[in-house]
Amino acid sequence: MPEDAISAAGVRKTYRARGQPPVEALSGVSLRVGRGERVSLLGRNGAGKTTFLRIASTLLMPSSGRVEVFGRDVVRDPEGVRPLIAVVPQEGKPFFHLTPREQIYTYLRSRGFQRETAKSRTEEALGLMALEEVADRLNATLSGGQKQRAMVATVIATQAPLLFLDEPTIGLDPFARRGVWESLRRLTRMGSTILLTTHYLDEADVLSDRLYVIDRGQVVGQGTSEDLKRSTGGTLRVSFRGPFPDAKALRAEVQGTGRIMEDDQSLHIITSPERMEELLAIALRRKLAATVGPVTLEEAFLRLVGRSIEGEEHVGS
Ligand SMILES: Nc1ncnc2c1ncn2[C@@H]1O[C@H](COP(=O)(O)OP(=O)(O)OP(=O)(O)O)[C@@H](O)[C@H]1O
Ligand SMILES: [Mg+2]
Repeated sequence: MPEDAISAAGVRKTYRARGQPPVEALSGVSLRVGRGERVSLLGRNGAGKTTFLRIASTLLMPSSGRVEVFGRDVVRDPEGVRPLIAVVPQEGKPFFHLTPREQIYTYLRSRGFQRETAKSRTEEALGLMALEEVADRLNATLSGGQKQRAMVATVIATQAPLLFLDEPTIGLDPFARRGVWESLRRLTRMGSTILLTTHYLDEADVLSDRLYVIDRGQVVGQGTSEDLKRSTGGTLRVSFRGPFPDAKALRAEVQGTGRIMEDDQSLHIITSPERMEELLAIALRRKLAATVGPVTLEEAFLRLVGRSIEGEEHVGS
């Protein structure tokens, strides 16, 4: 058996629709996901995450390149791949005329599970996603977050060897999000592999063994959360709160202590523990409120793919 759950090399995808300019959504993505790993794809809206997930899960043809799932080519052998995977699509909705209990059970039966197994897995998934109270109500009558939980429950109930989850926690309350995290950890403990996307970087941080940052159809960063944070140039963030009577002099004074970032109210310096004393001395001398915190994954992300919103018009052109 091959070691990788997913191995992708040079994947390109150009969407072509008649009368529309072509859109290059992926321009040569190579990545791998080891067996039993939880890996997240991060990227701005339109970066190409869903496109990659759809190709790797046999729902969309790549323009070129290769993806293998457990050593099977997704283009040449989709029938071989499908029993090994389960997918929560972005903005997927459960069948409106079924209840969550019926939805999960029916799906498991359609994947070939015996009645008894399907029944016990259904109850377990309902419990994990805290859906017991609404388990017998029509999906159509559920709240947005309850519908999303029903989608996630359906897929985790399969315990498939490889799960693709495209923004699985969108619209979920903080308790339900933690329920999803716990379920995903449990699945990987039992041997499943997980590839997910999320825009919640705190979630990506606690959930991922490794991450890939995609920007404009290309991998621009990869590694553990710690690797990505280190790539910002330091592990600590010192923030001076403004307004500053003499911003120019302050800027000159902190120059060279780390990477400087500014927003409306504050001056932030991404730095290392060794420079801390120096920076706090400046704060004391100037009587400025200073806070010190660890660099977050969000900061690493913003640095990796940072550009103005206006830059978006170039996507695909
Ligand atoms: N069916 C389609 N036809 C044409 N262009 C498409 C199609 N689907 C996606 N695109 C374009 O391909 C690019 C990548 O889209 P994709 O859905 O993969 O992004 P994403 O990273 O999942 O974004 P989001 O975070 O918003 O979900 C975007 O520019 C998008 O507009
Ligand atoms: Mg998407």
